[in-house]
Amino acid sequence: GCIQFDLRGALSFLSERELVQMEQAAETAKDELVEHTGAGNDFHGWVDLPEAYDREEFARIQKAAAKIQGDSDVLVVAGIGGSYLGARAAIEFLRQGFYNQLPKGERKTPEIYFVGNNMSGQYMNALIDVIGERDFSVNVISKSGTTTETAISFRVFKTLLEKKYGKAGAASRIYATTDKQRGALKQLADREGYECFVIPDDVGGRFSVLTAVGLLPIAVSGADISRLMEGAAAERQALLTEAYADNDAMRYAVARTVLNRKGKEVEVLANYEPSLAMISEWWKQLFGESEGKDQKGILPHSVNLTTDLHSMGQYIQDGRRILMETVLNVEQPKNELVIEEEAGDPDGLNYLAGKTMDFVCKNAMRGTKLAHIDGGVPVMQINIPAQDEYSLGALFYFFEFAVGVSGYLLGVNPFDQPGVESYKRNMFALLGKPGYEKEREALLAREAQ
Ligand code: PA5
Repeated sequence: GCIQFDLRGALSFLSERELVQMEQAAETAKDELVEHTGAGNDFHGWVDLPEAYDREEFARIQKAAAKIQGDSDVLVVAGIGGSYLGARAAIEFLRQGFYNQLPKGERKTPEIYFVGNNMSGQYMNALIDVIGERDFSVNVISKSGTTTETAISFRVFKTLLEKKYGKAGAASRIYATTDKQRGALKQLADREGYECFVIPDDVGGRFSVLTAVGLLPIAVSGADISRLMEGAAAERQALLTEAYADNDAMRYAVARTVLNRKGKEVEVLANYEPSLAMISEWWKQLFGESEGKDQKGILPHSVNLTTDLHSMGQYIQDGRRILMETVLNVEQPKNELVIEEEAGDPDGLNYLAGKTMDFVCKNAMRGTKLAHIDGGVPVMQINIPAQDEYSLGALFYFFEFAVGVSGYLLGVNPFDQPGVESYKRNMFALLGKPGYEKEREALLAREAQ
């Protein structure tokens, strides 16, 4: 596949023999995924998605993106969790780091902001100020169509649109990505005539980045979503056909499982590029929500390096020895910055004159990796050829496939998330939502104790 897994930094903590011993179990897990026989197989839609996606809808996504690019200075994307993280991760990975701040002439596509991923009025007020008098559109994304954070933020920005453009004008600037027939959002969209995109029934939130959930905002940013799908399709082809010994996603899934069984409870995903920070957030949801159940699961954590070497570095090097690390390594930087020679060498940096920042960064990475291994942290590495659409499609699929295999090895259903409902019942009761009167009384009594 396009994404390469490098296990060498973990080989003093596990042996190739241990990986070979897991072969049968891993093959069974893979078969359960590919043949759709494993637990949660009603949510296996992502497995074949890069080949089987709806081409007609794909063309509509591209058309809608072009319209938004033409009539909007800003796109507001409302969503949370699986209906948020993938699109943001992709846009930050693919576009210029200060995308939203670029002057208008430099960026031909709208600024893109995400709402509905918190409960903060302050955050929304600040964004309303940023939009000002400018033209904007809204993409509201919710599979259930009832998520509170998303629904509140959508109400706020829909009202703003209606005041600015009138009801019909607003409707032509609202794009709803939701279930094909169920839910409050779908009903509202049909009533008001918003353009709708579908989140397939058999694709769960955290596996939905390659559906309209991710594709519409990503396309609006100017990225090539066809290449994204091509990368995912090629990675799928590789992972479905490669033998165990060459199958990088299976080897990653097995390696982290073996390390976990040897006491490594936490997996730290480390990136060396600020534009990958949201990829780590997406990965945390994918792995945390898929594996953290039945009182089991590796705790996914992430660090942005070298930034966090100056904060979390001490713990990784020398704290409790429960950590394994996985480094995300982008092989080819998007562009280069060369360090210049300075007369008199006032800061002692002339030994780096003529060198690129990528050279400096890669050496920091090599040094850190060796130090962490010396400190008792197995370090795995995932090589991403470039920060482009093709590699990103492949990376998304790589991790989805790996967590499927890994979850089955752990003996859980990686495709459900029963635990995320618990807080909601309490919150609705405390907010006074009709139908929660009994729970409300019980909670207030508990708090008064
Ligand atoms: O993975 C999940 O199921 C969650 O993170 C959901 O994506 C999140 O809660 C948003 O749900 P919805 O798309 O229904 O608004």
